[in-house]
Amino acid sequence: MTATLTEMLSQALAATAAAVNAELDHLLPSGDAPEHRVHDAMRYSALEGGKRLRPFLVIQSASLFNVSPAAALRVGCALEMVHCYSLIHDDLPAMDDDDMRRGRPTCHRQFDEATAILAGDALLTRAFEVLAAEATHPDPAVRCELVWQLAHASGGQGMVGGQMLDLQAADLDMDVAAITRLQQMKTGRLIGFGCEAGAILGKAPASLRLALKNYAHDLGLAFQIADDLLDVLGDETQVGKKLGKDAEAGKATFVSLLGVDRARDQARMLAEQACRHLDPFGQAADLLRQTATFVVTRGV
Ligand code: IPE
Ligand code: IPE
Ligand code: MG
Ligand code: MG
Ligand code: MG
Repeated sequence: MTATLTEMLSQALAATAAAVNAELDHLLPSGDAPEHRVHDAMRYSALEGGKRLRPFLVIQSASLFNVSPAAALRVGCALEMVHCYSLIHDDLPAMDDDDMRRGRPTCHRQFDEATAILAGDALLTRAFEVLAAEATHPDPAVRCELVWQLAHASGGQGMVGGQMLDLQAADLDMDVAAITRLQQMKTGRLIGFGCEAGAILGKAPASLRLALKNYAHDLGLAFQIADDLLDVLGDETQVGKKLGKDAEAGKATFVSLLGVDRARDQARMLAEQACRHLDPFGQAADLLRQTATFVVTRGV
């Protein structure tokens, strides 16, 4: 019996998670140096749990262009480091003030606030150290492009800018267009890098790189709408983080603006639209298509 795409996706996600855990274990500092507390905190927040969706996107997009799996894994891990840093800082008392992440105490709860800030900083910088190293790609121009794109996606005009808007979302009068821009920056940009990274590593033609960028644009928005829906409808033990936080903070989201049903319709529509951008890749992109379905139907 041939496995269904749903089964294939869950197997591929599990394989990615195992590979990412092993590679992060290798890439993150360990040992008993006097400063090991920050290394312990980095490892605590990066090594366990998480869907590992962003590295999965790097690995899948890279597979479309015959990129070496080891290179794709390194880039995926660099991206996951930036994601984990963003979660550590997102959970701090000065931001969302959360106690649980991935089913365990948040980094500042397990360690302390100062250590959590430093662990986030160190994960962020380690990500760029990994991208810049020769083992990531023999061509320095490719490494430079990866560094440039991830920096742009992560910084003040990307994820960090989106986080700033998110903190202001309770006070600003935001319409659907403003929320779309916020979500696109806060969540979409790192997901966008994940999808584009494979094309960069594979020196893909501009048209195919653009197709992946367009896919990621719609996928990222659908993903954040699903996160906002889970915040309202999800099961806390399953999701592994405290829910109901957006409404409690009076944050404008797609769900608060459109209501649950229309937000869900919007997420599904975006997922379908995402898949249409994958037409040039034919069946080779089936797992990326299935990922779009997973993103809007996931329970975690
Ligand atoms: C949570 O991201 C933060 C958002 C950008 C919505 P994920 O839902 O990918 O979290 P993990 O990595 O699986 O824990
Ligand atoms: C966090 O968004 C996004 C980033 C960390 C960039 P949320 O605040 O909605 O994520 P959760 O719900 O805490 O995972
Ligand atoms: Mg937040
Ligand atoms: Mg949060
Ligand atoms: Mg959320």
